[in-house]
Amino acid sequence: MAYAAFRSIGAYVPEKILTNEDLAKMVDTSDEWISKRTGIKERHIAAKDEFTSDLGVKAAQKALDRSGVALEDIDMVVCATISPDYFCMPSTATVISTKLGMKNVTAFDISAACTGFVYILSIAKAFIESGMKKNVLIVGAEKLSAITDYSDRGTCILFGDGAGAAVISATEDKSEAIIDVHTGADGEYADLLMTPNGGSGSAHDAVDVEAGSCFMQMKGNETFKVAVRTLTKDVQEILKENKVASDDVKHFIPHQANYRIIKAVGDALKMREEQVVLTVAKYGNTSGASIPMAINDIYESGRLQAGELMLLDAFGGGLTWGSALVPFSPKK
Ligand code: COA
Repeated sequence: MAYAAFRSIGAYVPEKILTNEDLAKMVDTSDEWISKRTGIKERHIAAKDEFTSDLGVKAAQKALDRSGVALEDIDMVVCATISPDYFCMPSTATVISTKLGMKNVTAFDISAACTGFVYILSIAKAFIESGMKKNVLIVGAEKLSAITDYSDRGTCILFGDGAGAAVISATEDKSEAIIDVHTGADGEYADLLMTPNGGSGSAHDAVDVEAGSCFMQMKGNETFKVAVRTLTKDVQEILKENKVASDDVKHFIPHQANYRIIKAVGDALKMREEQVVLTVAKYGNTSGASIPMAINDIYESGRLQAGELMLLDAFGGGLTWGSALVPFSPKK
Protein backbone atom coordinates (compact mmCIF):
# COMPACT_ATOMS: atom_id res chain seq x y z
CA MET A 1 0.00 0.00 0.00
CA ALA A 2 1.15 3.55 -0.71
CA TYR A 3 1.31 5.99 2.16
CA ALA A 4 1.35 9.80 1.90
CA ALA A 5 4.43 11.65 3.21
CA PHE A 6 4.64 15.37 3.95
CA ARG A 7 7.90 16.10 2.10
CA SER A 8 8.43 19.86 2.08
CA ILE A 9 7.07 23.30 2.91
CA GLY A 10 7.31 26.81 1.46
CA ALA A 11 5.61 30.15 2.05
CA TYR A 12 5.49 33.70 0.79
CA VAL A 13 4.18 36.98 2.17
CA PRO A 14 3.80 40.17 0.14
CA GLU A 15 6.10 43.07 0.95
CA LYS A 16 3.67 45.69 2.21
CA ILE A 17 2.89 45.65 5.95
CA LEU A 18 -0.30 47.06 7.43
CA THR A 19 0.16 47.72 11.16
CA ASN A 20 -2.44 48.20 13.87
CA GLU A 21 -1.45 51.86 13.96
CA ASP A 22 -2.19 52.13 10.21
CA LEU A 23 -5.66 50.61 10.81
CA ALA A 24 -6.32 53.05 13.67
CA LYS A 25 -6.08 55.83 11.07
CA MET A 26 -8.72 54.08 8.93
CA VAL A 27 -11.35 52.93 11.49
CA ASP A 28 -12.20 53.60 15.14
CA THR A 29 -9.78 51.17 16.79
CA SER A 30 -6.38 51.09 18.50
CA ASP A 31 -3.23 49.00 18.66
CA GLU A 32 -4.05 48.27 22.30
CA TRP A 33 -7.55 46.94 21.51
CA ILE A 34 -6.43 44.78 18.58
CA SER A 35 -3.39 43.40 20.43
CA LYS A 36 -5.38 42.55 23.55
CA ARG A 37 -8.37 40.93 21.79
CA THR A 38 -6.56 39.13 18.97
CA GLY A 39 -2.78 39.08 19.52
CA ILE A 40 -2.34 40.57 16.02
CA LYS A 41 0.21 43.38 15.55
CA GLU A 42 0.51 43.53 11.76
CA ARG A 43 -0.43 41.76 8.55
CA HIS A 44 0.90 41.75 4.96
CA ILE A 45 -1.09 43.15 2.04
CA ALA A 46 -0.59 42.21 -1.62
CA ALA A 47 -0.04 44.85 -4.28
CA LYS A 48 -2.91 45.69 -6.58
CA ASP A 49 -1.41 43.77 -9.49
CA GLU A 50 -0.31 40.83 -7.30
CA PHE A 51 -2.92 38.07 -7.46
CA THR A 52 -3.60 35.10 -5.17
CA SER A 53 -1.95 32.85 -7.76
CA ASP A 54 1.23 34.99 -7.67
CA LEU A 55 1.50 34.49 -3.91
CA GLY A 56 0.77 30.78 -4.38
CA VAL A 57 3.42 30.38 -7.09
CA LYS A 58 6.16 31.89 -4.90
CA ALA A 59 5.24 29.62 -1.97
CA ALA A 60 4.95 26.58 -4.26
CA GLN A 61 8.33 27.21 -5.89
CA LYS A 62 10.01 27.06 -2.49
CA ALA A 63 8.16 23.88 -1.53
CA LEU A 64 9.10 22.29 -4.87
CA ASP A 65 12.77 23.30 -4.56
CA ARG A 66 12.91 21.73 -1.09
CA SER A 67 11.04 18.56 -1.99
CA GLY A 68 13.53 16.73 -4.17
CA VAL A 69 10.62 16.06 -6.55
CA ALA A 70 11.03 17.16 -10.17
CA LEU A 71 8.43 19.55 -11.57
CA GLU A 72 7.39 17.03 -14.23
CA ASP A 73 6.69 14.43 -11.53
CA ILE A 74 3.99 16.53 -9.86
CA ASP A 75 0.71 15.01 -11.04
CA MET A 76 -1.82 17.12 -9.16
CA VAL A 77 -2.16 20.68 -7.84
CA VAL A 78 -4.88 21.56 -5.35
CA CYS A 79 -5.38 25.08 -4.08
CA ALA A 80 -7.37 26.09 -1.00
CA THR A 81 -8.60 29.65 -1.34
CA ILE A 82 -11.60 31.88 -0.71
CA SER A 83 -10.03 34.72 -2.67
CA PRO A 84 -9.40 33.10 -6.07
CA ASP A 85 -7.96 35.10 -8.95
CA TYR A 86 -11.24 34.72 -10.83
CA PHE A 87 -14.77 34.43 -9.52
CA CYS A 88 -15.69 31.13 -11.21
CA MET A 89 -12.99 30.04 -13.61
CA PRO A 90 -10.26 29.28 -14.27
CA SER A 91 -9.37 27.82 -10.90
CA THR A 92 -6.42 29.38 -9.09
CA ALA A 93 -4.77 25.93 -9.03
CA THR A 94 -4.85 25.88 -12.83
CA VAL A 95 -3.29 29.35 -13.01
CA ILE A 96 -0.61 28.34 -10.48
CA SER A 97 0.25 25.13 -12.35
CA THR A 98 0.62 27.02 -15.62
CA LYS A 99 2.73 29.80 -14.07
CA LEU A 100 5.00 27.10 -12.64
CA GLY A 101 5.38 25.61 -16.13
CA MET A 102 3.44 22.41 -15.54
CA LYS A 103 1.70 20.63 -18.38
CA ASN A 104 -1.04 18.06 -18.17
CA VAL A 105 -1.66 17.98 -14.41
CA THR A 106 -4.92 17.59 -12.52
CA ALA A 107 -5.66 21.01 -11.00
CA PHE A 108 -8.58 22.30 -8.98
CA ASP A 109 -9.54 24.59 -6.09
CA ILE A 110 -11.47 23.79 -2.97
CA SER A 111 -13.47 26.17 -0.80
CA ALA A 112 -13.34 25.37 2.91
CA ALA A 113 -12.31 28.83 4.15
CA CYS A 114 -9.76 28.76 6.97
CA THR A 115 -9.89 24.95 7.14
CA GLY A 116 -8.80 24.82 3.50
CA PHE A 117 -5.27 23.55 4.10
CA VAL A 118 -6.45 20.64 6.24
CA TYR A 119 -9.00 19.76 3.53
CA ILE A 120 -6.40 19.76 0.73
CA LEU A 121 -4.09 17.69 2.89
CA SER A 122 -6.86 15.09 3.22
CA ILE A 123 -7.41 15.17 -0.56
CA ALA A 124 -3.70 14.67 -1.28
CA LYS A 125 -3.55 11.80 1.24
CA ALA A 126 -6.60 10.07 -0.26
CA PHE A 127 -5.42 10.37 -3.88
CA ILE A 128 -1.98 9.04 -2.98
CA GLU A 129 -3.21 6.17 -0.79
CA SER A 130 -5.63 5.09 -3.53
CA GLY A 131 -2.73 4.96 -5.99
CA MET A 132 -4.29 7.55 -8.31
CA LYS A 133 -1.51 10.15 -7.80
CA LYS A 134 2.13 10.04 -6.66
CA ASN A 135 3.17 13.64 -6.00
CA VAL A 136 0.64 16.30 -5.07
CA LEU A 137 1.38 20.00 -4.67
CA ILE A 138 -1.03 21.58 -2.19
CA VAL A 139 -1.26 25.35 -1.92
CA GLY A 140 -3.13 27.57 0.53
CA ALA A 141 -3.15 31.06 -0.96
CA GLU A 142 -5.16 34.12 -0.04
CA LYS A 143 -5.47 37.75 -1.03
CA LEU A 144 -8.05 38.43 1.67
CA SER A 145 -7.50 42.18 1.33
CA ALA A 146 -9.56 41.87 -1.89
CA ILE A 147 -12.63 40.69 0.03
CA THR A 148 -12.17 42.72 3.23
CA ASP A 149 -14.28 45.77 4.05
CA TYR A 150 -11.78 48.33 5.34
CA SER A 151 -14.59 50.39 6.87
CA ASP A 152 -15.69 47.48 9.16
CA ARG A 153 -13.53 47.43 12.30
CA GLY A 154 -14.99 44.07 13.31
CA THR A 155 -13.28 42.28 10.41
CA CYS A 156 -10.58 44.46 8.80
CA ILE A 157 -8.29 44.18 11.82
CA LEU A 158 -8.10 40.41 11.50
CA PHE A 159 -7.15 39.47 7.97
CA GLY A 160 -3.98 39.49 5.87
CA ASP A 161 -2.54 38.12 2.62
CA GLY A 162 -0.05 35.30 2.07
CA ALA A 163 0.49 31.77 0.80
CA GLY A 164 1.94 28.47 1.90
CA ALA A 165 2.52 25.24 -0.01
CA ALA A 166 3.61 21.67 0.56
CA VAL A 167 4.58 18.64 -1.52
CA ILE A 168 2.93 15.38 -0.48
CA SER A 169 4.40 12.23 -2.03
CA ALA A 170 3.83 8.50 -2.09
CA THR A 171 6.04 6.37 0.15
CA GLU A 172 6.14 2.72 1.16
CA ASP A 173 7.68 3.56 4.51
CA LYS A 174 4.82 3.71 7.04
CA SER A 175 6.94 5.63 9.56
CA GLU A 176 6.91 8.59 7.12
CA ALA A 177 3.15 8.56 6.60
CA ILE A 178 0.60 11.22 7.47
CA ILE A 179 -1.18 9.47 10.34
CA ASP A 180 -4.70 10.86 10.06
CA VAL A 181 -6.70 13.85 8.82
CA HIS A 182 -10.11 14.86 10.17
CA THR A 183 -12.47 17.16 8.26
CA GLY A 184 -15.98 18.32 9.14
CA ALA A 185 -18.60 20.92 8.34
CA ASP A 186 -21.94 22.20 9.66
CA GLY A 187 -23.91 24.59 7.47
CA GLU A 188 -26.22 25.44 10.38
CA TYR A 189 -23.58 27.98 11.36
CA ALA A 190 -23.16 29.43 7.85
CA ASP A 191 -24.26 32.91 8.84
CA LEU A 192 -21.46 33.35 11.39
CA LEU A 193 -18.92 34.04 8.69
CA MET A 194 -19.86 34.65 5.08
CA THR A 195 -19.67 36.77 1.96
CA PRO A 196 -23.43 37.17 1.45
CA ASN A 197 -23.33 38.82 -1.97
CA GLY A 198 -21.86 38.07 -5.35
CA GLY A 199 -22.93 34.44 -5.76
CA SER A 200 -25.95 32.87 -7.41
CA GLY A 201 -27.67 32.66 -4.03
CA SER A 202 -27.82 36.40 -3.47
CA ALA A 203 -30.44 38.85 -4.68
CA HIS A 204 -27.83 41.35 -5.77
CA ASP A 205 -27.66 43.50 -8.85
CA ALA A 206 -24.62 44.55 -10.81
CA VAL A 207 -24.45 47.89 -8.99
CA ASP A 208 -24.02 46.19 -5.62
CA VAL A 209 -21.22 44.04 -6.93
CA GLU A 210 -19.43 47.00 -8.50
CA ALA A 211 -19.74 48.92 -5.23
CA GLY A 212 -17.83 46.09 -3.58
CA SER A 213 -20.51 44.33 -1.57
CA CYS A 214 -18.81 40.93 -1.83
CA PHE A 215 -16.91 41.43 1.40
CA MET A 216 -16.62 39.10 4.38
CA GLN A 217 -19.12 39.59 7.19
CA MET A 218 -18.71 37.98 10.59
CA LYS A 219 -20.39 37.50 13.94
CA GLY A 220 -17.07 37.54 15.76
CA ASN A 221 -18.16 36.79 19.26
CA GLU A 222 -20.26 33.72 18.37
CA THR A 223 -17.60 32.49 15.94
CA PHE A 224 -15.09 32.65 18.77
CA LYS A 225 -17.15 30.44 21.08
CA VAL A 226 -18.06 27.85 18.43
CA ALA A 227 -14.43 27.72 17.31
CA VAL A 228 -13.06 26.93 20.77
CA ARG A 229 -15.73 24.29 21.43
CA THR A 230 -15.47 22.57 18.02
CA LEU A 231 -11.68 22.60 17.82
CA THR A 232 -11.12 21.25 21.30
CA LYS A 233 -13.51 18.34 20.67
CA ASP A 234 -12.09 17.52 17.24
CA VAL A 235 -8.47 17.56 18.35
CA GLN A 236 -9.20 15.47 21.44
CA GLU A 237 -10.85 12.91 19.14
CA ILE A 238 -8.01 12.69 16.61
CA LEU A 239 -5.47 12.22 19.43
CA LYS A 240 -7.58 9.55 21.12
CA GLU A 241 -8.43 7.65 17.92
CA ASN A 242 -4.75 7.43 17.00
CA LYS A 243 -3.51 6.78 20.55
CA VAL A 244 -1.31 9.87 20.46
CA ALA A 245 -0.69 11.78 23.69
CA SER A 246 -0.38 15.59 23.76
CA ASP A 247 3.21 15.05 24.87
CA ASP A 248 4.02 13.07 21.69
CA VAL A 249 3.26 16.19 19.62
CA LYS A 250 6.37 18.22 18.91
CA HIS A 251 4.61 21.13 17.19
CA PHE A 252 0.98 22.13 17.72
CA ILE A 253 0.19 24.29 14.68
CA PRO A 254 -3.30 25.78 14.88
CA HIS A 255 -4.97 28.00 12.32
CA GLN A 256 -3.80 31.51 13.22
CA ALA A 257 -7.08 33.40 13.73
CA ASN A 258 -6.82 34.83 17.21
CA TYR A 259 -4.30 34.32 20.02
CA ARG A 260 -7.10 33.89 22.56
CA ILE A 261 -8.68 31.02 20.58
CA ILE A 262 -5.28 29.32 20.22
CA LYS A 263 -4.59 29.74 23.96
CA ALA A 264 -8.01 28.40 25.00
CA VAL A 265 -7.68 25.29 22.80
CA GLY A 266 -4.01 24.79 23.71
CA ASP A 267 -4.83 24.97 27.42
CA ALA A 268 -7.73 22.50 27.05
CA LEU A 269 -5.32 20.08 25.32
CA LYS A 270 -2.63 20.68 27.98
CA MET A 271 -0.11 21.84 25.37
CA ARG A 272 3.07 23.37 26.77
CA GLU A 273 4.03 26.83 25.54
CA GLU A 274 7.02 25.53 23.56
CA GLN A 275 4.77 23.14 21.60
CA VAL A 276 2.45 25.89 20.33
CA VAL A 277 3.42 27.62 17.07
CA LEU A 278 2.32 31.27 16.93
CA THR A 279 2.55 33.54 13.90
CA VAL A 280 -0.71 35.46 14.32
CA ALA A 281 1.09 38.58 15.60
CA LYS A 282 2.96 39.16 12.34
CA TYR A 283 0.60 37.77 9.69
CA GLY A 284 -2.93 38.06 11.14
CA ASN A 285 -5.48 35.58 9.82
CA THR A 286 -4.55 34.42 6.32
CA SER A 287 -7.28 31.77 6.13
CA GLY A 288 -6.25 28.69 4.08
CA ALA A 289 -2.65 29.94 4.02
CA SER A 290 -2.13 30.33 7.75
CA ILE A 291 -1.16 26.76 8.68
CA PRO A 292 1.43 26.20 5.91
CA MET A 293 2.83 29.71 6.59
CA ALA A 294 3.23 28.74 10.26
CA ILE A 295 4.88 25.41 9.32
CA ASN A 296 7.24 27.32 7.04
CA ASP A 297 8.13 29.66 9.90
CA ILE A 298 9.35 26.85 12.14
CA TYR A 299 11.07 25.18 9.17
CA GLU A 300 13.01 28.32 8.19
CA SER A 301 13.97 29.08 11.79
CA GLY A 302 15.39 25.55 12.16
CA ARG A 303 12.80 24.40 14.69
CA LEU A 304 11.24 21.72 12.46
CA GLN A 305 13.31 18.57 12.04
CA ALA A 306 12.73 15.35 10.09
CA GLY A 307 10.52 12.86 11.91
CA GLU A 308 8.94 15.39 14.27
CA LEU A 309 5.19 15.11 14.75
CA MET A 310 2.97 18.08 13.88
CA LEU A 311 -0.62 18.44 15.07
CA LEU A 312 -2.65 20.80 12.85
CA ASP A 313 -6.08 22.21 13.61
CA ALA A 314 -8.33 24.70 11.85
CA PHE A 315 -11.84 26.08 11.67
CA GLY A 316 -13.48 28.57 9.34
CA GLY A 317 -16.47 29.77 7.39
CA GLY A 318 -19.02 27.13 6.55
CA LEU A 319 -18.56 26.31 9.39
CA THR A 320 -15.77 23.93 8.58
CA TRP A 321 -13.17 22.39 10.84
CA GLY A 322 -10.38 19.85 10.72
CA SER A 323 -7.25 18.47 12.31
CA ALA A 324 -4.31 16.35 11.24
CA LEU A 325 -1.43 14.33 12.69
CA VAL A 326 1.53 14.76 10.36
CA PRO A 327 5.16 13.70 10.76
CA PHE A 328 7.57 15.93 8.84
CA SER A 329 9.13 13.52 6.34
CA PRO A 330 11.60 15.16 3.94
CA LYS A 331 13.07 12.85 1.28
CA LYS A 332 16.01 10.91 2.72
N1 COA B 1 -11.69 48.22 17.83
C1 COA B 1 -12.28 48.71 18.93
N2 COA B 1 -13.45 48.25 19.39
C2 COA B 1 -14.04 47.26 18.72
C3 COA B 1 -13.48 46.70 17.56
C4 COA B 1 -12.26 47.23 17.12
N3 COA B 1 -11.62 46.76 16.03
N4 COA B 1 -14.29 45.71 17.10
C5 COA B 1 -15.33 45.66 17.94
N5 COA B 1 -15.20 46.58 18.90
C6 COA B 1 -16.07 46.86 20.04
C7 COA B 1 -17.50 46.41 19.79
O1 COA B 1 -18.21 47.39 19.07
C8 COA B 1 -18.01 46.22 21.20
O2 COA B 1 -18.33 47.48 21.74
P1 COA B 1 -19.54 47.67 22.78
O3 COA B 1 -19.16 46.83 23.97
O4 COA B 1 -19.55 49.13 23.03
O5 COA B 1 -20.78 47.14 22.07
C9 COA B 1 -16.77 45.71 21.97
O6 COA B 1 -15.64 46.10 21.16
C10 COA B 1 -16.77 44.21 22.18
O7 COA B 1 -17.12 43.58 20.95
P2 COA B 1 -17.04 42.03 20.76
O8 COA B 1 -17.43 41.70 19.36
O9 COA B 1 -17.80 41.37 21.88
O10 COA B 1 -15.47 41.78 20.98
P3 COA B 1 -14.69 40.44 21.12
O11 COA B 1 -13.95 40.38 22.39
O12 COA B 1 -15.54 39.25 20.76
O13 COA B 1 -13.57 40.60 20.00
C11 COA B 1 -13.16 39.73 17.80
C12 COA B 1 -13.96 40.72 18.65
C13 COA B 1 -13.61 39.84 16.35
C14 COA B 1 -11.68 40.10 17.91
C15 COA B 1 -13.37 38.31 18.36
O14 COA B 1 -14.75 38.07 18.54
C16 COA B 1 -12.83 37.24 17.48
O15 COA B 1 -11.64 37.18 17.20
N6 COA B 1 -13.69 36.32 17.05
C17 COA B 1 -13.28 35.21 16.23
C18 COA B 1 -13.19 35.70 14.85
C19 COA B 1 -12.42 34.79 13.99
O16 COA B 1 -11.44 34.21 14.40
N7 COA B 1 -12.84 34.71 12.75
C20 COA B 1 -12.16 33.98 11.77
C21 COA B 1 -12.60 32.59 11.78
S1 COA B 1 -11.52 31.64 10.81
